[in-house]
Parts: sequence; C-alpha cells; structure tokens
Amino acid sequence: MTVIPHGLSNGGFVRDLSDTLCVDAIPLDRIAAEVGTPAYVYNARAMRLAYRTLETALAALPITVCYAVKANANLAVIRIFRDLGAGADVVSVGEMRRALAAGVPAERIVFSGVGKTDAELAAAVDAGIGQVNVESSGELKRLNALAEVRQRRVEIALRVNPDVDAGTLKEITTGTADDKFGIAIDRVPAVFELAAKLPGVSLRGVAVHIGSQIVDLQPYHNAYRRIADLVHQLRDEGHIIDHVDLGGGLAIPYDREPRVDATAFAAVVRETLGALGCRMTIEPGRYLVGSAGVMLARVVEWKEDLARPFLILDAGMNDLMRPALYKAYHPIVAVHGDTGDVTVDVDVVGPICESTDRFARGRAMPRLKAGSLVAIGAAGAYGAALSSEYNSRPLVPEVLVDGSRVAVVRKRPSFEEMVGLESLPPWMEDSPAADRPPTAELPEPDRAAE
Ligand code: LLP
Repeated sequence: MTVIPHGLSNGGFVRDLSDTLCVDAIPLDRIAAEVGTPAYVYNARAMRLAYRTLETALAALPITVCYAVKANANLAVIRIFRDLGAGADVVSVGEMRRALAAGVPAERIVFSGVGKTDAELAAAVDAGIGQVNVESSGELKRLNALAEVRQRRVEIALRVNPDVDAGTLKEITTGTADDKFGIAIDRVPAVFELAAKLPGVSLRGVAVHIGSQIVDLQPYHNAYRRIADLVHQLRDEGHIIDHVDLGGGLAIPYDREPRVDATAFAAVVRETLGALGCRMTIEPGRYLVGSAGVMLARVVEWKEDLARPFLILDAGMNDLMRPALYKAYHPIVAVHGDTGDVTVDVDVVGPICESTDRFARGRAMPRLKAGSLVAIGAAGAYGAALSSEYNSRPLVPEVLVDGSRVAVVRKRPSFEEMVGLESLPPWMEDSPAADRPPTAELPEPDRAAE
C-alpha cells in the first residue's frame, strides 16, 4: 500500500484495498469520472473533526469560534460550521451575504477587514452584524456617522497591530509595523478616547490577528501578552473592556510540519488572557478546512523534451494559486497507488502560459501516464477561494463528501456562464445591441452594497 503523506491523511484521505485514494469510503476516481477534472473535493467529516478538536481544547474558556469565511467561502462549508454552532468572520459584504445565506445569525458575524467601504459598513449596520473590527481612526469616524444616521449603536472592537512577527511566510504575516493592518499598539489608547465620544459605536473590545499558518506558538504568546498589558492600561484609563478577538492563524500540516496542538494553544490563551475575565472570539480558517480538501487533476503529459522532465496537469495556478503566490508546498500523490516504487524527480506544472504555473519543483513522483489522476492535498483552504478564470478557464467545481453522501456544491460553469456578463458595445458590428440608440452618457456606477 502506498504511503499517504501527512497533509492528506490528516483530512481523512485514505487508500482502499486496491490502493485507490478515497475520501472517507468514496474513491476519488469515481468523483473524477462523474464531475471531471480539475475538481476540488472536500471531506465534511474532517471539517467537523477539526472543529470539535478545537472546540474541545477551548472548552474551559469563554470563546466563540467564528469561522473565517475567506479560507473557503462555499455555502455548504459555511453551513457545516453554522450547524456546529460557529459564527462567521467576514471581510467583505460578499462574505457577509454568504454567511447570512448559509444561515449564520447576524449577531454571530464579525466583520473584519482593512478597507471597508461606506457601502459595506452601511450594509453591516443594516444587517445587524454582531461586531465590526475597526482598523483605523478614519473607519471609526465613518462607521459612527453611518450608525448615527440610522440611530444605531454598533458593537465594535479595535484591531490592534502588536508589532509581533508571526514567524510564518512573509507574505502572510499581518501583525508587524511593516504591515497595513490594524492600529499601532501605542496609538490604541488615543483611538479609545476618540471612540468614547462617538454615540454611534460601542467600543469594548480589542482584536488581534498576527498572521496565518502559524506553527510555533511563541508569537501568539508574545502578541496576547501585549494585548493583556494593553487591556490593563485601557482599564486603568477608565475604559470598559470585556471582549478580546484572538484572530486566526492556526497551522495545518502541508509537508512535515505538525498540526498545531489546539490544547497547547488553549494553554497559551489561558496563561496570557485568561485572567482578564473577557469573553473571547477566535477566527480560524485554515485549521478547520485546510486538510479536509484536495484538488483532483488529470495528467495531460509526461514531457521529456527538455533538460528535465515535466509532469503537466490539467489544473493550473489559476485553480490553486498558493504554490505560485507563496512558493507554498502541497503534497501531490497519484490517486491510483499501484504505480510501482520507482520515482523520478519531476516539476509538476499546469497548462497556464506563465512560468510560475508550477505546483512543485523536483518532486519525487511515479512516472505517470497521460490520463492518470493525481490529488493535490491540503487544498481545502485558500484553494477554490483564491482561484480565478485566468486563461479563460472556468472556475473549478467543488464536491462535498459526507460519509457515503456526495454532492456537487459548486458546479463547473459552462462557457456561456463564464462569458455571460460580457457584451460587445453597441457600436461594434454584429453586436446584438447594435440597433439600440447610443447612450448619451455613461450610467452612474452602481456602488450599492451588492
Ligand atoms: N482573521 C483575520 C483578520 C484574517 O486576516 C485571517 C486570514 C483569518 C482570521 C484566518 O486565518 P487562518 O486561520 O486561515 O490562518 N491566502 C493565504 C492566507 C491568507 C490569510 C489571510 N487572513 C494562504 O493561502 O496561505
């Protein structure tokens, strides 16, 4: 039986007796035959298991888990966590509407994000969102004005930038002085002073998020210590602080790194923030969904016409961006394990006209024939969510497996659907709109919160 890398086994991907990779008991070749490739496949049970592991570890603390929708925004995925009692962390009005559409109650939604527009803030106020995490004094004033007009008082927290390096990839670090996020910790007291005078907001909390895929707990320790000191200082200055938002960032195994130990993380929270008597929120994304997804792809060619061999897949960087964007490692395995023991170091690439369209460099792979299936593991977070239609490739469909049940939870768009929002201008010959009278002026762009 071929060994399954940790990054896949952690999500419940196993080999059956014929050495075929399965999700739960469903062989992935069956899904590929029905849905085609590329396709994302998610394991609902693995998502629930990750949620329960975290929930159990945090049980002694007054914490609400708000699933970070950005990691995987599929409605069915959001619904899985809603059914387990989670709230949602959203960063755009689109994500807010997804969370609401999946049935998350508005009061369990936290709206984060560094550049919320007036339309988005207004939509959040109108929807009765539980908390807005404000990231600048400008945003604070704009939100206050919007709430005042509506005669509302919005619960907010201030996102603090603690200037702590999360020790993760530079591209996904968010809590250092070099990053655009939050308010510098030494400036936070002044913004609290300002907020105390604003009738449209109720500021009683602080939020912090230092980065993503954090393997080592020490940066959390450092950041939460600073937050605890800040809360003491703010209380000394007369402010009431009863809420701390811990952010997300918990790591999963991609290569050899361990899955972050949720119990050890809980101990860090208890040690640094436990004595404050605050209720807390945590915003995990990747930890809940990352391991629970693979992207299925088919081999187009094993190419040997260059100095080194290339394994060309029908999936590209537009479908899974992380290797191109961050040089991120993802495990890649043959779905049918009966390929013998001989491996070749090969570059695994996609069909996109970009040299960064590479999933792995010099990876030991069996010599796979055209038409063979491969699974790229640990693709449940920031996989489909980051995908695009570059090279006019329709977005990859998403399939959810829940025990013996299988459903397509996002279908592959047809060509017509992909180009359906485009049209030729009326002055172009053969345009269906050519006989319409020319418009004198451009219409006002629709800035409504759609
Ligand atoms: N809360 C806030 C405010 C965030 O900015 C993020 C992620 C999260 C929670 C969830 O973080 P998680 O638990 O998933 O690490 N595209 C990158 C990751 C970007 C993360 C952005 N913020 C990647 O593929 O690695």
